[in-house]
Amino acid sequence: MFRINENFLNLSESYLFNQISKKVDDFISYKPVTDLIRLGIGDVTLPLPSSIVRSMHSAVNEMSTIETFRGYGPEQGYSFLRERIAEVDYSQRGINVSPDEIFISDGSKSDTGNIGDILGDDNVIAITDPVYPVYLDTTIMRIGKSGKILLLNCDEERGFLPELPNEHVDVVYLCYPNNPTGTVMTKQELKKWVEWSLENGSLILFDAAYEAYIQDENIPKSIYEIENADKCAIEFRSFSKNAGFTGLRCSFTVVPKSLMSKLKNGSEVSLNNLWKRRQSTKFNGTDYIVQRAAEAVYTAEGQIEVGEMVNYYMHNASIIRNSLLMKGWTVFGGENSPYVWLKCPHELDSWAFFDQLLNNCHIVGTPGVGFGSNGQGYFRMTAFNSHEKTEEAIRRINTNY
Ligand code: MLT
Repeated sequence: MFRINENFLNLSESYLFNQISKKVDDFISYKPVTDLIRLGIGDVTLPLPSSIVRSMHSAVNEMSTIETFRGYGPEQGYSFLRERIAEVDYSQRGINVSPDEIFISDGSKSDTGNIGDILGDDNVIAITDPVYPVYLDTTIMRIGKSGKILLLNCDEERGFLPELPNEHVDVVYLCYPNNPTGTVMTKQELKKWVEWSLENGSLILFDAAYEAYIQDENIPKSIYEIENADKCAIEFRSFSKNAGFTGLRCSFTVVPKSLMSKLKNGSEVSLNNLWKRRQSTKFNGTDYIVQRAAEAVYTAEGQIEVGEMVNYYMHNASIIRNSLLMKGWTVFGGENSPYVWLKCPHELDSWAFFDQLLNNCHIVGTPGVGFGSNGQGYFRMTAFNSHEKTEEAIRRINTNY
């Protein structure tokens, strides 16, 4: 008899956002409301900026003539895009990342999950609690629900930030600005993690998908702003949240050439080579048309347009944050992040508040406990909606609480 990967049996029955969709569908089928406001999954709502759309149109035209048609592209991504990323996201910020350290992909969700392919199963993996569920679920899929997964408590008392582990850890996932809590790490805090990692020979998997939302100049946008992070960290970046690509799919992962692992026999292996080998075997590259769309993000016009989108969403974040603070609620995030993390009113648990908001206010949010046990009693609302709907959501909350 063939066998399945029994690690899957250790996962919760469905992925958090599927569970929420199902609850919302059930609610609508029982009460067909037409005024639902979705502040749940972090999915963008504004249309693509015109510079990006134009670039896609011209790429579509290229695909339609024999002279300019393109088939398989380079698995690591086209150099026209990798060079722009190296220049604008890194070099212009004083960071040295070369195009051959950049791997274009179809989303940070895939890359943060797939990175485990190049890591040994014996590693002790530290994951914050609460956390974006992909890191934990994909780790469980690979190594099971074993003692090799160490949860780092990020509770309100700690400002929802992790402390350096006291026990041995080989790999740690960090996401800043954080999903779900919207908290950020200062340069000093991130520097502590880099130093810890270098001292312990550990690897940091740094998810910077929300860097575009950072307003405070003292908050690092990239882990490579910290000295020697290129020797201990892989960075994941996405076009989903800054440029509205949740439906297009494009992201990139930086695996520095100076990032090495030691084999049992003492020799060194480059993670950049391993990831290249993994991607060229299991991935045939991101669409040419989508990569041309991503390239347009780096034009002068593209930079202005994506900046305006981020500002639009940050306006919503401040509406949510400030209105709830004015009610006397306990609120985190929303200042350098599109996520506002709040303590549920009246000591409700996360799902009870979810149900109340859905039933009484017709608002969908995300229960904090879905991100881990430290999220129990908390709730996440996103800034990804229109100003009008965000304001209406606040009106409804004010009426009901
Ligand atoms: C979220 O809501 O946490 C995000 O949409 C997750 C993601 O980008 O996959």
